[in-house]
Amino acid sequence: MTGSIHGHEHVTIIDHPIVQHKLTILRNKDTGSKKFRELVKELAMFAGYEATRHFQLEPTRVTTPICETTAYTLKGRKVAIVPILRAGLGMVEGILELIPAARVGHIGLYRDPETHLPIEYYFKLPEDITTREVLVVDPMLATGGSAVAAIDFIKARGVAAEKIRLLVILAAPEGIQALAEAHPDVSLYTCAIDECLNEHAYIVPGLGDAGDRIFGTK
Ligand code: PRP
Ligand code: URA
Repeated sequence: MTGSIHGHEHVTIIDHPIVQHKLTILRNKDTGSKKFRELVKELAMFAGYEATRHFQLEPTRVTTPICETTAYTLKGRKVAIVPILRAGLGMVEGILELIPAARVGHIGLYRDPETHLPIEYYFKLPEDITTREVLVVDPMLATGGSAVAAIDFIKARGVAAEKIRLLVILAAPEGIQALAEAHPDVSLYTCAIDECLNEHAYIVPGLGDAGDRIFGTK
């Protein structure tokens, strides 16, 4: 389902039943790191599938074992996947399975535990980033601070807004509103929109701390 949600005009909810089933397992506090990583990878693949739906095709000739025919291949789309470290790393492999030739950039941000504001610690993008479709990946859009800062950096490198897409697994209304204010031109793809944030700016009901659950650090 694509439409205008929480003030953002370009939001796609990936409401496929298999996605929703996997998301429920992901939310469960008893799901361990190994399974959690597998699910994040799989959900990223579904999000990547939706976020590349606008890619264009061009005709080519192909000979099947039966005859020659016209078939279609992707038309010159170059892709960069940009995970927001560290939880975003969990989504890279799933999208690389869809688009093996994609380049991968990295943006290191963590939320200050007191202010909840993003602090930058690493930034490296492919040199030809302006020629690529950019898929920014992070499982969680909570206050939106991290995603907004990451997209600020990418735009500052000269990437046009219409080439940037943000792929998350869970979004809070607050994060969608923040994205709508800062980057109304960047499309958002999410598996679900949750209720709200709690006093620690965690998504409710959410799935807890995505980075800790992926990497088993708590
Ligand atoms: C988490 C998550 C997002 C950010 C979302 O990262 O992976 O990057 O919080 O919150 P926001 O929308 O309020 O900015 P965290 O800071 O916990 O770092 P980590 O990925 O290294 O665990
Ligand atoms: N980051 C997370 O990992 N989880 C949340 O709920 C919010 C931010």
